Amino acid sequence: MKTSRKVVLVGAGFVGMSMAYSLLNQGGVDELVLIDVNKDKTMGEEMDLSHGLPYAPHKMRIKAGSYKECKDANIVVITAGLAQKPGQSRLELAVENAKIMKDITENVMNNGFDGIFIIATNPVDLMTYVVAEVSGMPKSRVIGSGTVLDTARLRQLIAEYLEVSSKNVHAYILGEHGDSSLVPWEHCYVGCKKIIDIMKDNNHPMEDLKKIHDGVWQAAYEIIEKKKATYYGIGMALNRLIKAVLNDENAILTVSAYQNNEYGQEGIYIGVPAIINKNGVKDILKLNLNEKDQELFDHSCEIMKQNIKNGIDNVINLKK
Ligand code: LAC
Repeated sequence: MKTSRKVVLVGAGFVGMSMAYSLLNQGGVDELVLIDVNKDKTMGEEMDLSHGLPYAPHKMRIKAGSYKECKDANIVVITAGLAQKPGQSRLELAVENAKIMKDITENVMNNGFDGIFIIATNPVDLMTYVVAEVSGMPKSRVIGSGTVLDTARLRQLIAEYLEVSSKNVHAYILGEHGDSSLVPWEHCYVGCKKIIDIMKDNNHPMEDLKKIHDGVWQAAYEIIEKKKATYYGIGMALNRLIKAVLNDENAILTVSAYQNNEYGQEGIYIGVPAIINKNGVKDILKLNLNEKDQELFDHSCEIMKQNIKNGIDNVINLKK
């Protein structure tokens, strides 16, 4: 049993360092190790973050390190890889980032890692599949950030629309972290009241729900157009995931989890509500989807399967 809470971050770019900065501000991690192909970057980030420690709520050892640090780490977070350019879909990054995932995963496993993988590199559902296949780890210990960020965007947009706290919005995005995601609106609540009933009782047009979902899956494109990249939202989402694991929370988060037929699909990773604790994915929450939502979910899964068949598996099977 590991005594200290140690996280290794592979990828000291905007996403990884936004996560690191949120961990410094919130505490809860005893040691954070930064790994990147650009060693100077990790050394500069170590210095810069450490200078905030006097004003941080808790101490945290921060160090630029190597893959040797993975041996006693609780969690390895992978954010390294090419990022979306304006107008580019996440799926266009798949083959190149799969090669990077394979290399990183081999380095991590060659150094004796036996904790939990958390992956954010896009397209995250496919990259999580690569890490699971290359590492050979139990599938429940390889988790993608999935639609944890999309779900946060959905909750925020619903909160703004209905003028309620986002903390009381219980709504989830399923499927690909991308253009083919879906909202099972029948299973969405504000407090203990169905959102569909709130819409009806307040004479809100139902098509506003579609506009809200459009706002979710288009968010990254809009943000990238305006500021070239997204990183604060995903940084906070990764922080949330890390805490659920380190604190053994049994928290329900819509991670990219390995499918074992809970939703009639198997052999891929995709966003579903899952119970997260110190062992990774404890269980997947099975929602009874209506016919339309099941069709949308199956379509999203099919896109993953096609990408795996048409490129990802070739990368995984590439010999060194
Ligand atoms: C986004 C990136 C993390 O959706 O894919 O902002």
